[in-house]
Order: sequence, then C-alpha cells, then structure tokens
Amino acid sequence: MIQDFSGKRVLVTGASRGIGRTLAEDFAARGARVAVNFQRSADLADEVVTGITAAGGNAFAVQADVGVGQQVQGMFDDIEVRMGGMDILVNNAGINRDAPIAEMTEEDWDTVIATNLKGAFLCCRSAVRLMQSEKIDGGRIISISAITSHVGRENAANFCASKGGLDALTRALAVELGPGITVNAIVLGFMNSPLARAVFTKEQIASAQARIPAGRLGEFSEVSALVRYLASGAAAFLTGQAIGLDGGQIIRMP
Ligand SMILES: NC(=O)c1ccc[n+]([C@@H]2O[C@H](COP(=O)([O-])OP(=O)(O)OC[C@H]3O[C@@H](n4cnc5c(N)ncnc54)[C@H](OP(=O)(O)O)[C@@H]3O)[C@@H](O)[C@H]2O)c1
Repeated sequence: MIQDFSGKRVLVTGASRGIGRTLAEDFAARGARVAVNFQRSADLADEVVTGITAAGGNAFAVQADVGVGQQVQGMFDDIEVRMGGMDILVNNAGINRDAPIAEMTEEDWDTVIATNLKGAFLCCRSAVRLMQSEKIDGGRIISISAITSHVGRENAANFCASKGGLDALTRALAVELGPGITVNAIVLGFMNSPLARAVFTKEQIASAQARIPAGRLGEFSEVSALVRYLASGAAAFLTGQAIGLDGGQIIRMP
C-alpha cells in the first residue's frame, strides 16, 4: 500500500467533483500539495479545498478550461508561483456530448475533443516544461481514459475519438519523455458514478453489469488506488501503457 506523497506537487484536472475530487483528496491525505482544477464549479472546488484543509492537508483551487491554451498557461503560471513546480499531473477532466453522427454538431465534436484530448496535450506540455526546468527525475503523467478508446459506443463518435487519441498521446509521450517522466493512461469501464448514470439508462447499466466478469461497476477508490501506484516510485518501469480498470468488461466474448 503506497501511503506517502509528502513533498510531491500534484495537479488534478477536473477535481471539483467525481473521480478527480477523489484523486485530489487521496493525494492530499497522503501528504501531497494539490492543485484542484475546475472549469465552472468554483463552489464545489472550494468545498474540496476546504475539506482537504480541514483534514490537515494542503490544496488550492485553480480555474481553467483545459481546452484553452491561454487559460492553461495562466493556470500553470499560478501553480509555479504557489508550488514552485510539479511532480505529478493527472489529466482527468472529461466530458460527453452524445449524439448520433448525423446530428452531431461541430460544437459537440470540438468541445469534447478540446476538453478530453487537446486539454491533455496542453496540460502535458506545460507540466513537462515545469518538470524539465527542475530536472525532475520521477515525473508522472497519468490520464483518465475509457474503454471506448478500444471499443465503439453508438452516439459517441466524439468521445470515442477523444479517448483513442488520449491513449495514443500517452504512448507518444512515454517514448519521448523517458527516462525521467513516465506517462500512462487508465482505461476505465463502467464506474458507479453520476456521469455513468447520466449517459446510460438503468437498463443499459444493468445489462453491462451482468456482462462484467467482476460482477459489478467500479468504485472511485479503485481508480485512486491505481493512480497512487502509477504515481509512486514503485511504478518507475511502467510507462506508455493504457491499463484497463474495467472488471474485465472489455475482454469478454459475447
Ligand atoms: N464516470 C465514469 O463512469 C467514467 C467512465 C470512463 C471514463 N471516465 C472518465 O473519467 C474522468 C472523470 O469522470 P467523472 O465521472 O468524474 O466526471 P464528472 O463527475 O462529470 O466531473 C468532470 C470534472 O471535469 C471538469 N471539467 C469539465 N470540463 C472541463 C474543462 N474544459 N476544463 C477543466 N475542467 C473541466 C468538471 O469541472 P466543472 O464542474 O468545474 O466544469 C468536473 O470537475 C473523465 O475523463 C471521464 O471521461 C469516467
């Protein structure tokens, strides 16, 4: 069990709620200083920071739309002033804008690609500049992908393309940034989450659950356990991987 991230400086994008919030709280509970990124939900991000601080942790909120270069640059300038650098980046911010391809608007496409893929590129670029300027050995980049990077889902061409791109970005950067920085993606299946309940019907979730070898949906704490491992020194030899965390959902024959 990896417990100690004292002295580590972490940015979690999209940490005002959901998986990102759990990751931010988990790192902070283990001694890291955590930048809690959000786009719109300032109140929720403040709530996350207040909770972490009340528990004796160290965190601050940073607003930025990860899909907009200038905002990402501003966020990293702020982070550099407040934390002096960065050891661990978690690209978690992600959205869905589902529609059948014939009805998908250019905005549906652009917003999802900008948040889920370009956002990871922009954050990786700025994080790598910070890590390299400090000559950090042991930098970590972890991105939250989805099984739709490997399998199709109807009405989600934008989302599937964004997550497929994220896995490819992960491999490209792992090759480019080693040794010194590892880059990995976690390929999530069905999670027990408000987002899954918003995107899928009860019937779709029940039928997916019946097909998952583990027999249930995933929990946020299981994501943070894997992120913690990938962020640790123990995972120094693990890079360029898109690691499934899906209860075996993707490997099952019909
Ligand atoms: N939940 C699942 O079942 C599931 C399954 C597979 C993969 N995933 C992936 O896991 C990640 C987290 O999912 P989740 O369920 O925790 O999502 P969520 O509850 O909807 O939370 C999304 C977070 O991303 C932030 N965000 C959205 N657009 C942003 C932007 N342009 N810039 C910065 N932050 C932005 C939101 O902040 P604001 O509220 O401030 O906008 C929020 O904090 C996503 O990448 C998602 O694709 C989730």
